[in-house]
Amino acid sequence: MIVYYNSEFPHKDDLKISPFDRAFLFADGVYEALRSYNQNLFRLDDHINRLKYSLNELSIPFSDFNSIEKIAKELVHKNNINSDFSFYIQISRGTSFPRSHHFTEDLIPNVFAFVKPVSDSTKQTSKGVSIVLVKDQRWLRCDIKSTSLLPAVMANQKAFSLGAFEAILYRDNFITEGSHTNFFAVKNNIIYTTPLSNNILDGVTRKVVLEICRQNQMKYYEELINVNDLRFYEEFFITGTTTEITPVVKIDDWIVNNGKPGQITRNIQKIFNIYTNSK
Ligand code: PDD
Repeated sequence: MIVYYNSEFPHKDDLKISPFDRAFLFADGVYEALRSYNQNLFRLDDHINRLKYSLNELSIPFSDFNSIEKIAKELVHKNNINSDFSFYIQISRGTSFPRSHHFTEDLIPNVFAFVKPVSDSTKQTSKGVSIVLVKDQRWLRCDIKSTSLLPAVMANQKAFSLGAFEAILYRDNFITEGSHTNFFAVKNNIIYTTPLSNNILDGVTRKVVLEICRQNQMKYYEELINVNDLRFYEEFFITGTTTEITPVVKIDDWIVNNGKPGQITRNIQKIFNIYTNSK
């Protein structure tokens, strides 16, 4: 597999990275995960805007945003990928020696990227998945897409060990989001999702779903969802770049709606598929 690192395209096994890279020592970096439909990066501008926001919030001085699409295309070409692909790009603050918590303005960011064919998600998007509820132990800047992901890793591992697909996180009894997805619930034909704040990521797929709702006269509210009220909702789904729109059919031990994806979720999935195929 050929990867990208600071203007070069080495084989993944030949890449040398300094252990003094601040992403290695402090998780001092940001990332984006994109995917293609019909070989075109979906919502590239939204991902670039979010990347700019994350970099700006952390004062990481990267500005070569025009190179991003070129890097992805070159990686696809060099790896002979003919299918749809996911694209990961990470920008660390840079390499600094000796190790110190504070940083200086002169550091040069290190850029790492790779592509891989997207795995087939048909099973999970058609049949739905199980989720487990886990206390949100992340920091208070989840609006930044930082590589500092340990609480998300631990939460997702808990889900994995229990045979579930995703951990849905709650803070003070209110759902924030998933370990790597946003969360939606449906009640009386109205769609609910957690409002944007420092506690969640402004998901690109979340944004597309709300666009779909507006364009198709589907009513939605960005409102906090109490974990103790989940039984009052009829449908649930989670969203993410590679997760797309995935129905939730089990929450902890509760089998939702006889284990079948709900009709509103299905409708949004259908419109989303038309949407992505036309891009
Ligand atoms: N995760 N919330 C969190 C915490 C996420 O990490 C992600 C994305 C999302 C969904 O955002 P989007 O729709 O823009 O993909 C929500 C990526 C895919 C990841 O970590 O690999």
